[in-house]
Amino acid sequence: MGSACGGVCACSTCHVYVRTGASLLSEMEDDENDILDKAFDVRASSRLGCQARIERPGEIEIEITRESYDAYYNEHPDERAKR
Ligand code: FES
Repeated sequence: MGSACGGVCACSTCHVYVRTGASLLSEMEDDENDILDKAFDVRASSRLGCQARIERPGEIEIEITRESYDAYYNEHPDERAKR
């Protein structure tokens, strides 16, 4: 995932879609919701990867958004070159 702000809930580069196991995660707080408003293609399953904490055991499947992939490769251009 991207992490432009370093995980302090100040960007949306860690935007993911939770495919399964959303009930195992922490509830979304207001500041996460506010930042998600700035993300692209927000869906009902959207979360910020840096804010969603795993609180219960079980299987969780997420999809990393295009926004987050792009941010990651912009932050790590050497990794992009390896693709
Ligand atoms: Fe910036 Fe998650 S890394 S909000």
